[in-house]
Amino acid sequence: MLNVVELDKNYGKRKILEQVSFQIQRGEVVGLVGENGAGKSTLLTILATITKPTKGAIELNNVEYSKKLDDIRKMIGYVPQEISVWEEFTVEQNMLFFEKLSWKRHTKEECRQLCLDMQLSSWKEKVKDLSGGMMRKLNIAISLLNDPSLILLDEPTVGIDMKSKNEIGKYLVRLAKEQGKIILYTSHDMNEVITFCDRVYAIGQDSFYINLLQSNGVKVEKL
Ligand SMILES: Nc1ncnc2c1ncn2[C@@H]1O[C@H](COP(=O)(O)OP(=O)(O)OP(=O)(O)O)[C@@H](O)[C@H]1O
Ligand SMILES: [Mg+2]
Repeated sequence: MLNVVELDKNYGKRKILEQVSFQIQRGEVVGLVGENGAGKSTLLTILATITKPTKGAIELNNVEYSKKLDDIRKMIGYVPQEISVWEEFTVEQNMLFFEKLSWKRHTKEECRQLCLDMQLSSWKEKVKDLSGGMMRKLNIAISLLNDPSLILLDEPTVGIDMKSKNEIGKYLVRLAKEQGKIILYTSHDMNEVITFCDRVYAIGQDSFYINLLQSNGVKVEKL
């Protein structure tokens, strides 16, 4: 379980997150929505241990972030909003490089299968020759190398075609339901959120997203 308690984040005098508390159980796929600048990426980078909160506590599977950061990092897969892969290298070289950095060992075939699960069949192609959507698929595949129990995805499907988006969404839901992963992801694509998320958190002052999602029968809470 992911347990977030009374989290604050300030940048200088600006309060980005204020008294944010929520819980996500194993097996849940939860969306995080809100307008540009609302603080979605800030929250995900805090959960990914990249940014420190100003205040508050976080626990993942009963391990406290403030006490056992190394253990926490082994349990997290994170897809940043900006694509971060080696563009001069092939898909294969990227996967094998990040496999070495991962806590879990995989054979080359397993690395390749992760890409295929993301609908990415290019293997010998240089990343700089891939489309933006294909690079994103590679980014998602890399985040799963750790076999993480918490998967944080920051707008993972921007630029991905509808068919692949649907297949990736279904795959993430399967990871949650069959393997008990906790999945939290941001998206500006409400169709995707409505289709794949069990429930949604809306961040920021605006009630636009809350109204839109509720009118589509989605369980949504304000953070
Ligand atoms: N390192 C930083 N220093 C100062 N301000 C920052 C920093 N990172 C983010 N901010 C500010 O915090 C606010 C929230 O940014 P964040 O990137 O979390 O929003 P977001 O909801 O992810 O937006 P988007 O939908 O555009 O991705 C913004 O006003 C941003 O300018
Ligand atoms: Mg963002």
